[in-house]
Amino acid sequence: MSVADASLDTTSEVDAVDKIPLEEIDVSQPHLFKNDSWRPWFARLRREAPVHYLADSENGPFWSVTSHDMVMAVNTNHKVFSSEVGGIAIADRDDQGELSKAVSFITLDEPAHAPQRNSVSPAVAPGNLMDLEPLIRERAADILDHLPVGETFNWVDKVSVELTARMLATLFDFPYDRRRDLIRWSDITTAVPKVTGEDNDMEERKAALMDCAMTFHQLWQERAAQPPKFDFISMLAHGKATKHHINDPFMMLGNIILLIVGGNDTTRNSISGGVIALNQYPEEYQKLRNNPELIPNMVSEMVRWQTPVIHMRRTALEDIELGGKTIRKGDKVVMWYLSGNRDENVFPDADRLMIDRPNARHHVSFGFGVHRCMGNRLAEMQLRVLWEEIMKRFKQVEVVGEVERLSNNFIRGVGHVPVRLHPH
Ligand code: HEM
Repeated sequence: MSVADASLDTTSEVDAVDKIPLEEIDVSQPHLFKNDSWRPWFARLRREAPVHYLADSENGPFWSVTSHDMVMAVNTNHKVFSSEVGGIAIADRDDQGELSKAVSFITLDEPAHAPQRNSVSPAVAPGNLMDLEPLIRERAADILDHLPVGETFNWVDKVSVELTARMLATLFDFPYDRRRDLIRWSDITTAVPKVTGEDNDMEERKAALMDCAMTFHQLWQERAAQPPKFDFISMLAHGKATKHHINDPFMMLGNIILLIVGGNDTTRNSISGGVIALNQYPEEYQKLRNNPELIPNMVSEMVRWQTPVIHMRRTALEDIELGGKTIRKGDKVVMWYLSGNRDENVFPDADRLMIDRPNARHHVSFGFGVHRCMGNRLAEMQLRVLWEEIMKRFKQVEVVGEVERLSNNFIRGVGHVPVRLHPH
């Protein structure tokens, strides 16, 4: 299938989904994301049951929330919808292997959540981002200047992963030559069978997480002994709400992994997704060439279009009415961000990338409420800087072959995007 057709669902796919009894629709099947065939599934739920109950699935019974307004309703009501009780992913904690016991502030409710978040959030606050921007620009430019012009290569590895690795190493003040370890640990963390639908090697995962824990334990001790700095490890090691985690390995590892995964998969896949989208909609690429001032809005639109985090899960702490349905205390509620971002009532022609879309920023890719993505400004800055530097150098980053996507119902991941560069 060519890049241009990639997101168009055939009539037969739409018909097939329409024939499934509504109560059996299961949007959590990882292959839907690998094949990129999820659109008619979510479209049907948004149309017929934006709050939908599935009584039985690989992940047990769960509610799917698929319209933009229902996603917002759950996301902004943290008093009823807990991140702590059952975790934030559709796969239950017990299905997360070695990380079942790890806790991070994204899996805490108030009042425990905010003080821990506040320990590290200054690292990605606007003031610090202004200081970081020149370094990120220099690192982005260096990557782009060393790309193999005239050859076909994998954009994901050479640009998306490399830039994200460099940025993460900067944020953690992590040994620069070991930066790819951060990517490896992050990739392994999100690869569990209930999420990927594949037979992941859990022994290899255990060894990698042990390596991660030991590396950060040592760095933490070193930073704790030095005066506080503006990197994530130093801020955790000195933060009032987090410094005691040196004696709580699961909490320490949990927060470190959160900060690695939070900044890795998401930004990486926005970079890859952006290239795919501009190739799929060449008229938008032309708009960008004519008007590079659209880059900041385009970044929001790319984050909406890609939706790097497919879902977030909550657990109801009490009975509640939502969209005319009664959710019971203890029920698992899954907010499908990917679907909220395709809601035609908010985003006309929602499957299309439109780099000047007036309300692109209303996307739900960063979530809302107390857990709203802590790194959202950093991610936007990184993407803006990268696209500014790309447009200085290349007329087009052309996708020249098949795009490979990951089998994963949590992270909307892209593994391979073969491209050729067309310099000015
Ligand atoms: C395009 C890029 C990104 C996307 C789409 C994204 C998406 C998200 C989402 C959906 C959440 C959960 C919100 C909720 O519960 O509803 C989240 C939380 C979080 N993100 Fe991001 N993220 C991105 C980049 C980053 C970066 C660069 C960092 C920096 C390290 C980061 C760090 C975090 C952290 C620490 C949290 C937890 C916040 C909390 O629980 O208070 N993210 N992100």
